Amino acid sequence: MKTMLLAIVWDIILVLQIELSRGAIEKASKVTSNTNILNIHVSLAVSAVVLYVLMILTGKKVLKGNRDILGLHKKLGLLTLLMRTLTFITSFFAVAD
Ligand code: HEM
Repeated sequence: MKTMLLAIVWDIILVLQIELSRGAIEKASKVTSNTNILNIHVSLAVSAVVLYVLMILTGKKVLKGNRDILGLHKKLGLLTLLMRTLTFITSFFAVAD
């Protein structure tokens, strides 16, 4: 489980690095003038981060011994993986200067 947390933290540091080097938030907030694909990419990325938070919250409960929430954790885990993969794929098409 430490590895899962490490992967999440690593991934969030990556986003931070992109923000600092390329001003991603300022670019992303120009919703009306951005291309559709960039807006789709940004939406997927935001949902991935929200899901990361849910993964940590449900994961901590499983660690505390709540096995009832494991089913939810597992389903959210698959959704998280899907959203993060789609974020990665769309990143190639979303480049804005
Ligand atoms: C994106 C992040 C994560 C994904 C995709 C993920 C995915 C999963 C999946 C699919 C399982 C079920 C494995 C099985 O069927 O046996 C699982 C189990 C579990 N996860 Fe996560 N997880 C993530 C993050 C976390 C975090 C951050 C924590 C802790 C804070 C955590 C704690 C656990 C625990 C305790 C189990 C149960 C292991 C057992 O069967 O004893 N997970 N996770």
